[in-house]
Amino acid sequence: MNPLIIANWKCNPSSAEKAQKLFSGIKKGLPKNLKAKAVICPPFVYLEGLSGRGLEIGAQDCFWQEGPFTGQIACSMVKKIGCRYVIIGHSEKREMGDSDRNINKKLKSCLEQKLTPVFCVGETLKQKKANQTARVLKKQIKGGLKGISKNGFEKIVIAYEPVWAISGKKSFSAECSPEIAKVCKLLIKKYIKELYGKEAAEKARVLYGGSVNSQNALPYVKEAGVDGFIVGGKSLKAKEFIAILKNFC
Ligand code: PGA
Repeated sequence: MNPLIIANWKCNPSSAEKAQKLFSGIKKGLPKNLKAKAVICPPFVYLEGLSGRGLEIGAQDCFWQEGPFTGQIACSMVKKIGCRYVIIGHSEKREMGDSDRNINKKLKSCLEQKLTPVFCVGETLKQKKANQTARVLKKQIKGGLKGISKNGFEKIVIAYEPVWAISGKKSFSAECSPEIAKVCKLLIKKYIKELYGKEAAEKARVLYGGSVNSQNALPYVKEAGVDGFIVGGKSLKAKEFIAILKNFC
């Protein structure tokens, strides 16, 4: 399957005009012979304006139901607006209180809506230093996927995102090497195997996210065997995001 490359714009850019401009710039620069799927995940308020304009769009989060839930946006709503993908369990949402239990509800709701959830897991610097990476990944995977059938799981994409390698943050510590990404991808596959068996583990798609740029992207695919990326900082400049995509022509 072709790599999946997700632009996570986070809380950027600062206006709808800028969002349109960035989106158009990326669309215009898309290589014709691209052998990857590019998905743009802007803030909720820009989704409608970008929907149906030639590139796949996704949401950065969603809530599991409609109703009296101030400030939330339901999966069913992002589906209606044209999203096909939703990032779930990003570390920046976990830091703000998103628990494994809530992430589990969000994943289930995405599956009900036939959205593809991109389920993020990853350890903090503190956890890494305390040698807790394996334990954290296991807990996040088992908690997030609780009660989800093998059939449901097959529609989920996992993203390994070491929190300490996410750019532009106070907690940024270092780029994660392809070797480390590979070890963690294999750990993730091990826990998937425990839940769903060997075949599901082999087929599972695992992306990598954390300071991806046009120079380091290819080694993650070639050396770590990841199936694509979540790109944060470098997705905010059309030229830089396109330079990443150009690795996959
Ligand atoms: P980054 O962000 O590429 O800026 O490190 C990735 C992410 O947080 O998804």
